[in-house]
Amino acid sequence: MIMELTYRRAVARDLPVLHEIAMTTFENTYGRFNTAENMRLYFSQAMSEGEFARQLKDEHQPYWLIYAANRLVGYCKLDLVNTLVDDPQDDQCELERLYFLPEAQHRGFGTMAFQHICGWAVRHGYRSLWLVAYPKNKPALAFYRKMGFEQVGTTVFPLGHDMQQGIVHRLILSSDKKND
Ligand SMILES: CC(C)(COP(=O)(O)OP(=O)(O)OC[C@H]1O[C@@H](n2cnc3c(N)ncnc32)[C@H](O)[C@@H]1OP(=O)(O)O)[C@@H](O)C(=O)NCCC(=O)NCCS
Repeated sequence: MIMELTYRRAVARDLPVLHEIAMTTFENTYGRFNTAENMRLYFSQAMSEGEFARQLKDEHQPYWLIYAANRLVGYCKLDLVNTLVDDPQDDQCELERLYFLPEAQHRGFGTMAFQHICGWAVRHGYRSLWLVAYPKNKPALAFYRKMGFEQVGTTVFPLGHDMQQGIVHRLILSSDKKND
């Protein structure tokens, strides 16, 4: 049986739960590739509770909590101002985060959530979706390849003291995703 997902736009009162799942999934995904010190620095800067609180108030940085059978299994975030290109256009947005808890991965949820995100983006007038992926995150690279992204360049992703290389991906959105 295919389980349906539900998506809820996160609001200020979701801060504790959003922050917790963000920290858990980030640690689970990248902890093994990075020093404890760089992870600690990243958590205290880019992923501090204060930073999440600030972003939750920003209409250009929508977060969604993702539930399966009423259980929180993941979250995603768009940045509606694409910072990955020198000359950003209004119809580009960035998929900044898409993370599922370990027990919810590779069960088709990522594909469903991705279709939901594309549908939202198309309905709101976006024509391309951009993102950065970490070269050592092989499951994510396979996932984005399967979703149709092309690799179009690289960028620097600072994680603590480590200036890491990120692979920039782009997907042209087609209007037939409108009804997803
Ligand atoms: C990456 C992620 C969002 C994909 O979502 P998912 O629900 O696991 O993916 P799906 O089950 O929909 O799988 C779709 C495809 O993704 C790829 N994929 C997903 N998990 C994979 C894994 N563990 N190993 C290799 N490929 C994988 C496969 O190509 C898969 O197709 P297949 O089932 O025919 O093999 C999810 O695994 C996740 O949250 N990972 C940890 C956080 C993360 O890396 N986020 C992305 C940051 S850039």
